[in-house]
Amino acid sequence: MAHKLWEKNFEVNKEIERFTVGRDRELDLYLAKYDVLGSMAHITMLESIGLLKKDELEVLLVELKKIYQLAEDGKFVIEDGVEDVHSQVELMLTDKLGDIGKKIHSGRSRNDQVLLDLKLFTRHELHEVVDHVKILFDELIQKSNQYKDVLMPGYTHLQIAMPSSFGLWFGAYAESLVDDMFFLEAAWRMTNRNPLGSAAGYGSSFPLNRQMTTDLLGFDSMDYNVVYAQMGRGKMERNVAFALATVAGTLAKLAMDACMFNCQNFGFVHLPKECTTGSSIMPHKKNPDVFELIRAKSNKIQSLPQQVMMIMNNLPCGYFRDLQIIKEVFLPAFGELEDCLQMTAYIINKMEVNEHILDNPMYDPIFSVEEVNRLAAAGMPFRDAYKKVGLEIEAGTFTPDKNIHHTHAGSIGNLCNDKISALMDENISRFHFEKVASAVEKLLG
Ligand code: ARG
Repeated sequence: MAHKLWEKNFEVNKEIERFTVGRDRELDLYLAKYDVLGSMAHITMLESIGLLKKDELEVLLVELKKIYQLAEDGKFVIEDGVEDVHSQVELMLTDKLGDIGKKIHSGRSRNDQVLLDLKLFTRHELHEVVDHVKILFDELIQKSNQYKDVLMPGYTHLQIAMPSSFGLWFGAYAESLVDDMFFLEAAWRMTNRNPLGSAAGYGSSFPLNRQMTTDLLGFDSMDYNVVYAQMGRGKMERNVAFALATVAGTLAKLAMDACMFNCQNFGFVHLPKECTTGSSIMPHKKNPDVFELIRAKSNKIQSLPQQVMMIMNNLPCGYFRDLQIIKEVFLPAFGELEDCLQMTAYIINKMEVNEHILDNPMYDPIFSVEEVNRLAAAGMPFRDAYKKVGLEIEAGTFTPDKNIHHTHAGSIGNLCNDKISALMDENISRFHFEKVASAVEKLLG
């Protein structure tokens, strides 16, 4: 029962404690490094306004850096009886430094502390997600260029429709990631604002220098209004979840296509056997479980915004313990998405394509529009050409000319992958990751 930051002169009911602490002792481990970083910035600011002595600040920073290193090495633990990461860090400081450790919490509440931890964690993870998206993007563009001349059937209603190509198919998913990056950028921008100093949600009578902690932590700006800063809890998670969900949507669709195209009835793509899984009963099986798991995990991530909203949507302004539960769905989502992105890039790299799909005459009708356009270009009215080709197909006398000429922007013969890549580079350059990295490096000394 020891070590409760708010414990006074009565003991808390054990069942109440178990229920209210919930899964914090496990989930707060995601936040440990960031809790320490936040404390380093906070106490540096406290010293500057006279709430800590210079030598006190120095010993505290030394200890905090050690705790940061522990967390970095995966050795940070929340001890039995300690309720959360904030309490654990403070306990470690007071164990080591006595009363000095108790001074770090002036002008702060666990409400703005956890807000800050969540923002620093999310900011870090968004950078990771962007890096993983870029790796997958490059893989897709590479495959698109490699197979730009390999045709495949395009479908509408899952009925064979028109010629498409592997260049278009791979490139389409690359461009989808360009749009997803707009959401990640918006998520990053709202995450990269400093809530520290809002305290319990109403500020403090100490003359806190919020600009100083904003600069020390490399934030673009602060969440100025202290009531709004607290309102950001849940809102940030929801909006970031939308960004993760749009990336996951791209992955889920790609995975669905890949499962279908890998099926023997299509046979458009092939996975090397070491990238498939077997069956315990059917000796011939080589299943695309990787894509199936990417599909399911990505679908799960697409439910994240709804899960966050169901937890926080109807809360009035101000802190509520409800917000704690968001951590359970939000914190693990980044690792899961990053894993899916990494596996997708890996498996796309290994994927082989069938270069002779269209040799099968069952696909001949996909060239019908090519023929109609050829006749129309030679002067026959479009409707007449359409009818002529239609009747030939019905009569089984249609023989397609498979030499197609698509030249406009974004078509089979003109993929514009260079333009798509330029958009991606431009999107990534707007994050200014270097600014954040140098602030964090400086703070850690
Ligand atoms: N574990 C809490 C959370 O995640 C930390 C903040 C506690 N604040 C409070 N007023 N009880 O929300």
